[in-house]
Amino acid sequence: MSEIFTIEQRQFLKLLGLAVPGESPVLPPLKNQAVSAPAQAAAEPKIPESIANSLEAPEGISTLRAAAGILSARPKAVGVPQPVTPEPQQKIQTEPEAVSSLSELPTPAESGEPQRLQQVSASDWRDLQIMVNNCRACSLGETRQHAVFGAGNPRGSWLFVGEAPGAEEDRRGEAFVGRGGQLLDNMLKAMDLTRQQDVYIANVLKCRPPNNRDPLGPEVQSCLPFLQRQIALLQPRIIVALGRFAAQSLLQVTTPIGQLRGQTHQYQNIPLIVTYHPAYLLRSPLEKRKAWEDLQLAVQVYSAQSLPE
Ligand code: URA
Repeated sequence: MSEIFTIEQRQFLKLLGLAVPGESPVLPPLKNQAVSAPAQAAAEPKIPESIANSLEAPEGISTLRAAAGILSARPKAVGVPQPVTPEPQQKIQTEPEAVSSLSELPTPAESGEPQRLQQVSASDWRDLQIMVNNCRACSLGETRQHAVFGAGNPRGSWLFVGEAPGAEEDRRGEAFVGRGGQLLDNMLKAMDLTRQQDVYIANVLKCRPPNNRDPLGPEVQSCLPFLQRQIALLQPRIIVALGRFAAQSLLQVTTPIGQLRGQTHQYQNIPLIVTYHPAYLLRSPLEKRKAWEDLQLAVQVYSAQSLPE
């Protein structure tokens, strides 16, 4: 069966390092096309490193967001100060459908730190940053080099939420710096978004888990109030959860990521779209195809609510 792609879709596939039909190698089948495992393996595109990890969009690219007719994000009047420096990343990411144990954790009130939580929920942006930088609520505060508060423009309309800082982020105190961050930037670029203007990026955990291990339930429980306060202050118009930890933590569910994708969730009345983590996509390039679908959905949802008032 032949697939018909618009120019924008072809460019987006290329930007994510995927092959385009008719421009060998052959694309993997579309989501709903049944395919046998051997056939899928045979169809797997060989993506040159230079393309898969390229930082630049092709010259003159017409982006997905432009294709959707979306204008630049309007600056928001948000009670947050200057953009908080940081940028791009990398860390080992396990994306499989494993279920976290969030539901078994004690509630914040049971965890014996109501005063800290009360301070967090009453803080402004600057005080919140100070609290994050000084936090010792869990043992990651002892092993980190730097807490990583976030990156991008706090006045942007889009919020992307990752999992936790990796080694490079920990070293530099910046979010998403490294190959995963480069891919994230490419994804943003394809949506005609930039960190500098449209997007703020935060993580569920502000400190790096040693050896990039998965976040533990109590760590998520301690750290999540920071992200929740960030969201309350940022008031983004859409949230994109990168990976299962971000999705499950924000939605307070243990549903596998495969089931969370493809629908519009709500976080405090803010639309939330779930997609795979960039680090996972680097290790599983065939899944970029699904991420592309997720980002298209996010653009559609954003676009639908951004019509002139
Ligand atoms: N992975 C994340 O989820 N966040 C970062 O900031 C870096 C790597």
